[in-house]
Amino acid sequence: MKNIMVTGGAGFIGANFVIYMLEKYPQYQVIVYDKLTYAGNLDNLLPVSDEPRYHFVRGDICHPQTVAATIEKYNIDTIVNFAAETHVDRSIMDPDAFIQTDVYGTYVLLEAARRFRLERFHQISTDEVYGHIPAGYRSQETDNLAPRSPYAASKASADLMAHAYFVTYGLPVTITRGSNNIGPYQYPEKVVPLFATNAIDYQPLPLYGDGRQMREYQYVLDHCEAIDLVLHHGQLGEVYNVGTAEELENVAMVNILLQTLDRPGTLIKHVRDRPGHDRRYSLNIDKIKALGWQPRHTPAEAIVKTAHWYQKNEWWWRKIKDGDFKTYYQAQYGDRLQEAQ
Ligand code: NAD
Ligand code: TYD
Repeated sequence: MKNIMVTGGAGFIGANFVIYMLEKYPQYQVIVYDKLTYAGNLDNLLPVSDEPRYHFVRGDICHPQTVAATIEKYNIDTIVNFAAETHVDRSIMDPDAFIQTDVYGTYVLLEAARRFRLERFHQISTDEVYGHIPAGYRSQETDNLAPRSPYAASKASADLMAHAYFVTYGLPVTITRGSNNIGPYQYPEKVVPLFATNAIDYQPLPLYGDGRQMREYQYVLDHCEAIDLVLHHGQLGEVYNVGTAEELENVAMVNILLQTLDRPGTLIKHVRDRPGHDRRYSLNIDKIKALGWQPRHTPAEAIVKTAHWYQKNEWWWRKIKDGDFKTYYQAQYGDRLQEAQ
C-alpha cells in the first residue's frame, strides 16, 4: 500500500483519516477524491494542505471516467471509500442522492478497483445496516442486515455489493461498520455538533421523541485507528464492527454536553420524533479486538472532548451555520420547534 485514494476525504471522518494516515505513514501518498457536496469542506484538510504527499481531486464517485483517470494519474493501489450521503434526516426528506452516491457510486468504485486490479478496496459502513437492536443483544458481523431508513438501506446495499465483488471476482475487499462518530470537523447537522453549537449560542436543542434512543458515540480517531488496522491486518472478504461496546441514551449525551459547556437543561426541547427512528444500535466488537484494537475513549470522554473542540473552533462552524445550513435547519426544525412551544 503506497498510493491511497480516500473518497469523501473532505468530509468529517475522511479528513480525520487523511490527517492521521499522512502523519503515521511517511512513505504513503494520500489522494483525496471528493465531490465537495454541502458536507465536503476543504477547511477540514487545512492541517495537511502544504504536505506534498497529499493531493486533492474534485470528482464524483458516480463518474467512472474521472475515477479511472485519477487511479491512473496517481498510480492508486488502494481505495478507502468514505464518500456518501450520510444524514438520516436528509435521506427521509429526499433519498435520491443516497441511492446515487451510496449505492451506484460504490458500484462505480468497485468496478474501477476490479479493472485496475487494486490491492484493496475498503468500504466504510455503519452500524445502522443492522437496524434497530433489542435490549440485551449486540450486533455481530454475521447478522442479517435489516436497515430501516433510506440512508441505512443505501449503505447496506453498498456492503452487499462489495461482498459480491469479493465472492464473484476475488476483489480484495474489507468492510468496517462503525458506530456514531464524533469529534473535530463534523458537519453540524449531526446531533452532537448541532447540540454543542446550539448550546454555545443558548439556542434550543431539538431532542427527538423521548430522547431515550441509544447510540454508541465514538471518538473519530479511535475509528480511524481501527480502519488503519483492518487495512494492514484485516482478512480479505471480512467485515469488522467498530464501536465502543457502551451505548448511551441521547438524554445522557445531552446532559454531558450541557454540563461541559455550562449551559442550562431548559435548552432541551422535546420535539416530534424522526419517522422510523431506530431506538438502539449496539455492536459486538470482539472481532476487531481480537485483531489488536480497542477504543481509547469512552462515549462520555468523546463527548467532552468534542464539546471542547467546538468551543475552541468557532471559526470552523460559524460560517457553516450562517450559510445554506439555515435553510436546512428551518425545513427540518422550524415546525418541530414551533409545535414544542
Ligand atoms: P460526511 O457527510 O461528513 O462526508 C461525506 C463526504 O463525501 C463529503 O466530503 C462529501 O463531499 C463527499 N461526497 C458525497 N457524495 C460524493 C460523491 N458522489 N462523490 C465524491 N464525494 C462525495 O460523512 P462522514 O460522517 O465523514 O461519513 C463518512 C463515511 O463514514 C460514510 O460512508 C458514512 O456512511 C460512514 N459512517 C459515518 C458515521 C458517522 O457517525 N458519521 C458512522 C459510521 C459510518
Ligand atoms: P444523528 O447524529 O443524526 O445520527 P444517526 O441518526 O445516524 O444515529 O442522530 C443521533 C441520535 O440523535 C439519533 O437517535 C437521533 C437523535 N437526534 C435528535 O434527537 N435530534 C436531532 O436534532 C438530531 C439530528 C438527532
